[in-house]
Amino acid sequence: MEANQPQWLDNAIFYEIYPQSFNDTNADGIGDFQGIIEKLDYIRELGCNALWINPCFKSPFGDAGYDVADFYSVAPRYGTNEDLKRLFAEAHQRHMHVLLDLVPGHTSVEHPWFKESMKAERNDYTDRYVWTDSVWEEPQGMGCIRGISQRDGSCAINFFSNQPALNYGFLNPTLPWQQPMDAPGPRATLEELKNIMRFWLSMGCDGFRVDMAGSLVKHDPDSRGTIRLWQEIRAFLDEEFPAAAMVSEWGEPDKSLQGGFHMDFLLHFGPSHYNDLFRCAEPFFSQRGKGDVSAFVQKYLENYEKSQRKGLICIPSGNHDMDRLSRSIQGDSLKIAFAFLLSMPGAPFIYYGDEIGMRYIENIPSVEGGYNRTGSRSPMQWDSTVNAGFSAAPKEKLYIRQDESADRPTAAAQMADENSLYHEIRRLIAVRQAHTALQSKGKIEFVYAEKDAYPLAYLRSSDDERILVVINPADREVSFGCTHVPKENLYRFGEEIACKDGIMTVPAQTVGWFRV
Ligand code: NOJ
Ligand code: CA
Repeated sequence: MEANQPQWLDNAIFYEIYPQSFNDTNADGIGDFQGIIEKLDYIRELGCNALWINPCFKSPFGDAGYDVADFYSVAPRYGTNEDLKRLFAEAHQRHMHVLLDLVPGHTSVEHPWFKESMKAERNDYTDRYVWTDSVWEEPQGMGCIRGISQRDGSCAINFFSNQPALNYGFLNPTLPWQQPMDAPGPRATLEELKNIMRFWLSMGCDGFRVDMAGSLVKHDPDSRGTIRLWQEIRAFLDEEFPAAAMVSEWGEPDKSLQGGFHMDFLLHFGPSHYNDLFRCAEPFFSQRGKGDVSAFVQKYLENYEKSQRKGLICIPSGNHDMDRLSRSIQGDSLKIAFAFLLSMPGAPFIYYGDEIGMRYIENIPSVEGGYNRTGSRSPMQWDSTVNAGFSAAPKEKLYIRQDESADRPTAAAQMADENSLYHEIRRLIAVRQAHTALQSKGKIEFVYAEKDAYPLAYLRSSDDERILVVINPADREVSFGCTHVPKENLYRFGEEIACKDGIMTVPAQTVGWFRV
């Protein structure tokens, strides 16, 4: 099933906000909605026109809010539902769109549904979660919660052991406790999911980033059941909210797009080779020039073909689950990495703070189920005032420790420096937004992406224009044969890239975007 794409996605550039770490306006040491509202102009000025906000619903925060305790109320620490509604309106006034994070697969153990579901006597929530019949029987292939309920049985989990799995059924049930997708329990769960989506979309949210979208139906090896489930959601959205955008955390664009999603992420897990680019011992985007981009390109092209060459695959700069980009590459290499991220098909996603090269904080204790991810979730560094302008609370009250180094980057300092990463990203975004060939739906064709070699070159095209992107992160000059003759240099980083007799000579650490 193919989804009609909301037009604003064609040139959407997302900024991911981890709300607890963005901007604290009431000095309690944790970010809030008002803090986001006050920074909308900052985000807009950078060039981003869309937001993805990590889960902001009531939660005991055992997994940063991915353990929801009430899908219909925001966490009081961020504000009220009215404040979030105001955030939607303020964003819309600035021609920005907002995706909330929808967590359809599980809840917190503290969700009232789960408390009801644990009771021995049957009730409306008995079948809301995936339970076996006996506490001694574990759900095959899944972790479980056992021994805390009055009810006999063990309950499947999706991620941490405080995240019981909601019941959308099994594709092919083989045991008595496994319910088919069309049984009343799974049907009721799905109807409730629609209600949740209705609730926020009616309030002004523009769509959802969907957590673990590919894992709802159980024992579903080819995802046929899960795809069918999302197709039903697609039909509901087409009917009631045709403008809503849906972006999946799935990692298999062919499946996700069949399910009616508009875009899917390429991520650090699975066989994407995303890590070859920025996050491995020898990343392609390091100036050491010892990386290899070819496996990534091959995988990308497979996905691109499977998704009908529509360019609906999003490659994020990072996210709340990965190491900060600047943990493995720094300086000009970061600028060059963004010249890639901002010239690929699909919507770019910039993780808050990546635009100023915020660092991964080493060796900090886990906060809110972050574990090693905590180092990528530290509070935003705005300026040189107390707590880098994040919060007026005493330093010890900040819910995650900040980067304490004297030379920590700040937004204010980078905005004042034309040579900063911030300004480079702004320039890149401005050029992307001026050329449809560079945007989400522009086609891509790789011109040079050889094994263990530099540079990387690709052609982006739309009906009216063809743009050649040449990127050399390595600290040495390289060359390649190229039949496309540059007509105009639309963007340049570093020394000039020369083209003579079909040979392009690309100096160390340079980028060129050329109209051809
Ligand atoms: C993926 C989210 O990005 C991650 O932060 C979370 O812990 C898991 N899903 C579980 O919901
Ligand atoms: Ca606050």
